[in-house]
Amino acid sequence: MSPKYGDYQLEIYLNGLVGVTPTLPMDFAGWEERAEHALGPSLWSYVAGGAGDEYTQRANARVFERYGLIPRMMVGATERDLGVDLFGLTLPSPLFMAPVGVIGLCAPDGHGDLATARAAARTGVPMVASTLSVDPLEDVAAASGETPGFFQLYTPTDRDLAASLVHRAEAAGFKGIVVTLDTWITGWRPRDLSTSNFPQLRGHCLANYTSDPRFRELVGGGGPDDVVRTWAGVFGNPLTWDDLPWLRSLTDLPLVLKGICHPEDVRRAKDGGVDGIYCSNHGGRQANGGLTTLEALPAVVDAADGLPVLFDSGVRSGADAAKALALGATAVGIGRPYAYGAALAGEDGIVHVLRSLLAELDLTMAVDGYPTLADLTPDALVHRPAG
Ligand SMILES: Cc1cc2nc3c(=O)[nH]c(=O)nc-3n(C[C@H](O)[C@H](O)[C@H](O)COP(=O)(O)O)c2cc1C
Repeated sequence: MSPKYGDYQLEIYLNGLVGVTPTLPMDFAGWEERAEHALGPSLWSYVAGGAGDEYTQRANARVFERYGLIPRMMVGATERDLGVDLFGLTLPSPLFMAPVGVIGLCAPDGHGDLATARAAARTGVPMVASTLSVDPLEDVAAASGETPGFFQLYTPTDRDLAASLVHRAEAAGFKGIVVTLDTWITGWRPRDLSTSNFPQLRGHCLANYTSDPRFRELVGGGGPDDVVRTWAGVFGNPLTWDDLPWLRSLTDLPLVLKGICHPEDVRRAKDGGVDGIYCSNHGGRQANGGLTTLEALPAVVDAADGLPVLFDSGVRSGADAAKALALGATAVGIGRPYAYGAALAGEDGIVHVLRSLLAELDLTMAVDGYPTLADLTPDALVHRPAG
């Protein structure tokens, strides 16, 4: 059985009896509101913003309202099991932290990657560490303790640099490589464009590059401007399916492709020997006017045909996570909610966000009578048509 995640509420209510009430908000709206004040305007714009008029970003979250979990009574769900097996790892819960480049900057001490890793260590919720970080991946892996972590690769155009990053991630102890496919070019983001705001071009979050021998070779001993110029020159690789055998050859670790929403892409990924599919539209940050990830999920799960499907985009609560799990996600990722937790109180803020989401997921399963993740199937949901 999993830890009793729902007991977080007992802890909070009992603290109240001795006059101690929570210092951090208890839901996404509260985290978001406080984070706007905690982060400066440019960081807030970068984290909270999305592509175009942000329709897809909003729809990602709102689409969850159109699915209803059907309560089942007299189940006696006193013990819940939220554990999942993923790539041979036994995880205590189905939640994970999606890769957030700039999470490093979000924490008050400017070391949010380490704060995230420490929060992973404390909660058992794995972190997918972004290529774009303030601290090098070796330090991030070391801070994760016993909780397994995954490394997210933005595949550079220089193949030797890609290989170097993957091999460093392997050596550091990461348990899988997540290759993000939807960001070889940046989407149209009016919020950031209106203030010419792009953190990496200002030299932020490039530690994995500046600590890399191959990258340093490419920079050739130049100064900070050369680092940024070289980074901009190698960052985005417009991969095609012909590149998949090469990506696969880079590692024996589980390989996951992130950004997949079409069943045909799932089949091609599967044919290419990947170990997992990551259904995501980057939280609506990359392309506007598209499908929400939750709507894409059932066809992706169907095409994956037993291969693990990781899911993110729009998850704001434990109840949302329950719905994604019912639609077939093996594990559910959160992005902005934990970034806001980091903004509010660093490691402790992330732990609070994770414990809150886990408690709500656990208590939703208890109240609605679904004691295990296997009980959460598409039949547990009613889909209300839009309008
Ligand atoms: C500020 C920010 C930075 C991100 N950076 C990365 C990144 O470096 N790599 C990546 O694969 N995805 C990145 N993402 C996308 C997340 O991994 C995830 O897909 C998305 O945040 C999920 O949507 P949500 O924020 O609605 O939960 C980023 C998201 C945000 C909000």
